[in-house]
Amino acid sequence: MPATILVGTQWGDEGKGKATDLLADHMDYVVRYQGGNNAGHTVRAGGHTLKLHLIPSGILYEGITSVIADGVVVDPGVLLEEMDELATRGIDTSRLLVSSNAHLIMPYHLELDRVTERYLGKLQLGTTKRGIGPAYADKAARIGLRIQDLTDEKIFRQKLEVVLKEKNAILSRVYNRLPLDADEIVKDYMGYGERLAPHIADTSSVLYGALRQGKRVLLEGAQGTLLDLDHGTYPFVTSSNPVAGGALVGAGLGPKEVARVIGVTKAYVTRVGAGPFPTEETGAAGERMQERGQEFGTTTGRRRRCGWFDAVLVRYAARVNGLTELFLTKLDVLTGLDRMRICVAYRYEGRLYEDFPPHQTIVHKAEPVYEDLEGWTEDLEAVRGYGDLPPAARKYVERIADLGGVPVRHVSVGPHRDQTVET
Ligand code: IMP
Repeated sequence: MPATILVGTQWGDEGKGKATDLLADHMDYVVRYQGGNNAGHTVRAGGHTLKLHLIPSGILYEGITSVIADGVVVDPGVLLEEMDELATRGIDTSRLLVSSNAHLIMPYHLELDRVTERYLGKLQLGTTKRGIGPAYADKAARIGLRIQDLTDEKIFRQKLEVVLKEKNAILSRVYNRLPLDADEIVKDYMGYGERLAPHIADTSSVLYGALRQGKRVLLEGAQGTLLDLDHGTYPFVTSSNPVAGGALVGAGLGPKEVARVIGVTKAYVTRVGAGPFPTEETGAAGERMQERGQEFGTTTGRRRRCGWFDAVLVRYAARVNGLTELFLTKLDVLTGLDRMRICVAYRYEGRLYEDFPPHQTIVHKAEPVYEDLEGWTEDLEAVRGYGDLPPAARKYVERIADLGGVPVRHVSVGPHRDQTVET
């Protein structure tokens, strides 16, 4: 039974949680493969609404094993808080597995994320300030500490003391901050280690074995294609690889294991933080999307920038992820707009770009070329079959599939589980 990868095709917040929730019924394992607690999805359980940042939403289902794989950066304090929160709501977290190879977010990563952003001033990226960039930077510099180090105090302290010497020098001499205390960090992290020990596993091996036994595995991406470190709008990106290739590296599996790559795409576009956004709409239509779509960041509460659907992005996402289908979300938010716009290309210095431009300047300065379609006024929330969608809404969905070159298999028309139709 091959694995399925689920990725965001825009700048994150495409509604991947909704898609995961729907697919979870058919899964045995739900795996996070990159990012950290910069992500966030809202889940509804036992009459409560809760926000998860690290633990895959599969944790809500009894038959599913949730996995935090090698490619994730883990803030262990945050992970334990999430586990406690789930436990107080009666949700069993004993099936959660955390890769021993996953890197740790350390207190100096949080501190450095905050001060370096401040230092950048007007050029800041608008990170979530959760220490993600500094943790991945240390991983690449080979001075990171990993989950497995939590199980050996001697090794943990040895590695920490070397790194902390440098970090404290930077914090105090460059950024005028107080140095951090090694003993305090060791004490806190050994405490986390003790509690996490039963969950630490060789998750690549577990998943490989599960696939051999015909189990169903969903590899769930956080953030989105345009926030990818290599393929996104660099430097306004996150520090990991949300794209489908990143799923294989992050989970420790080979390409032959995957048959289906689902691109979750919102029926309009949003972005939090700084960076180019060619179809951004600052007028009334954008405000309407923001209000009706409740577009506020799950992690930081920031207002999301909104804009028209961008087919250049979805075509690009289809290419760099090898998408086999699209899952279109939040179509209901667009009800009531008199005309719908889809960006079909960018124009820059008289030239048309139907493919995502190869230079950042073009993306920053591009003027979107729009195709206008009819809007619809019907409320979509009660729609339960594709044929029940108003003709204008169907035309909009079909145009997205045409322009993206990938079939739309699901359309979501509201936040609830039953508000998703198959095409
Ligand atoms: P970082 O991931 O905290 O380093 O932030 C880098 C960029 O990615 C910023 O523009 C963030 O707003 C954005 N970002 C990170 N995580 C998410 C997410 O889950 N959804 C949307 N944007 C995100």
